[in-house]
Amino acid sequence: MDTTSAPVTARSDDGRSFVVADASGSAFVAGSLVIVTADERRQLGLVEERSETSPVRLRGRLIGELAADGIDTRASHAFESGALDPVDEATVEQLHATTGAELEVGVNLTPPGGPARLLPKRFNRHTFWCGQSGSGKTYALGVVLEQLVAHTALPIVIFDPNSDFVRLGELNADAKGPTAEALAGRDIRVLRPHGRPGSELRARFLDLPLPSKAAILRLDPVADRAEYNALVHLQDVLRQGELEDLLPMLRNRATEPGHPLAQRIENLAVLEWEVWAGEATAVTDVVGERPDATVLDLGGFSTPEQQLVVALALLDDLWERREERRPVLLVIDEAHNLASPNLDSALAVAVRERLLQIAAEGRKFGLWMLLSTQRPSKVHPGIISQCDNLALMKMSSPVDLGELGTYFGYAPAALIERSPWFRQGEALFAGGFVPTPSLVKMNPRLTPEGGTDVGVPLR
Ligand SMILES: Nc1ncnc2c1ncn2[C@@H]1O[C@H](COP(=O)(O)OP(=O)(O)OP(=O)(O)O)[C@@H](O)[C@H]1O
Ligand SMILES: [Mg+2]
Repeated sequence: MDTTSAPVTARSDDGRSFVVADASGSAFVAGSLVIVTADERRQLGLVEERSETSPVRLRGRLIGELAADGIDTRASHAFESGALDPVDEATVEQLHATTGAELEVGVNLTPPGGPARLLPKRFNRHTFWCGQSGSGKTYALGVVLEQLVAHTALPIVIFDPNSDFVRLGELNADAKGPTAEALAGRDIRVLRPHGRPGSELRARFLDLPLPSKAAILRLDPVADRAEYNALVHLQDVLRQGELEDLLPMLRNRATEPGHPLAQRIENLAVLEWEVWAGEATAVTDVVGERPDATVLDLGGFSTPEQQLVVALALLDDLWERREERRPVLLVIDEAHNLASPNLDSALAVAVRERLLQIAAEGRKFGLWMLLSTQRPSKVHPGIISQCDNLALMKMSSPVDLGELGTYFGYAPAALIERSPWFRQGEALFAGGFVPTPSLVKMNPRLTPEGGTDVGVPLR
């Protein structure tokens, strides 16, 4: 590829970044990988910014030194004058091999192109996935999850409010190759509100910690101290059974006109919720068996609170068992349903607080999250600020893009700014899970999508 017509000369004073005072006539753009040759060393660099001025200026970062046996990403050196050349595909392959980037999710949009790969080992961090409606988040997330399920042993739990992932265990008719073959052998469970016996999505009230029970019953420990206290004492009595066993007990104990806690349970109609496990298996039991992937089809409950109950039951359980240090990746599509700063019901706040806690402290226990949403302001800032990986798809709002820039300093601003021009299925990946910040066109899915958009009927 003829990228340069005149030699382009770079300089690095700090051994971390480089500048080019005049790159006029060259085709290096933000996102291009380059090789810098100086002082008999070859270093790999990334152009992060190309000015619109005359002469054209470039700024970039040094990624590592090219050695005979790979790329040493811990070494980079200052130089006064280095020649800048386009990188070849073999060097990119070398970079992927040395960093352990194995999950092929798409093709690189910047030269020299070739496969775009993510580092499976860096899903041991939290990931934020952002893009406007229709940008292709859910589809792209599916591509990444297929790779993770096929090529790692990391159990994944998918919070799926729109039934988008309920067919993750099937393969498209044309799906071929090692990933498809590996997927065919994986244990993928789909739990649904009205699933067949053994695959119902259920939670057990009595397993929940007291504050979560209180949140479901909208009980405040101070404002509702009598009822809350009744619940505290019932904790000891009710070691077995279900929520429905509470009522007769309360009625037996109470004098006319019935215990207020019984009235509350009846008035809230929580016993009519289909989410309670009864004799069925609870979501915590299924996830505890550590299938390769568990899809929680949250959308089909008769009331919105029930998806919060499922989320809370599972998050509480994982948190309580955190010392077991058994890794799991919690994938939360439409994360604003569970993590928005604007949620204010007691139950939603309880879920969000648990997510905040996992965001802040879960990493070292192997509780890792991937949250996907349309705008950064829809997820609590305390959660976003804990995310070390970013996937950004098309987003047109300058305000939202500006906000992202403040959280994700490791993503070059010039690449974030290109987001309004992304096509559907194009993404910027930045952070530890990618060898260098990369613009990527996602690969096709191997498994069928679940609920797709409804089309306009045409005559
Ligand atoms: N890379 C792609 N290749 C082919 N089709 C795609 C691709 N990405 C998205 N689509 C299609 O575009 C539609 C919208 O994509 P998707 O549901 O992933 O968007 P989204 O960003 O999750 O939107 P929302 O925020 O509304 O959930 C879907 O019907 C999907 O099949
Ligand atoms: Mg979506």
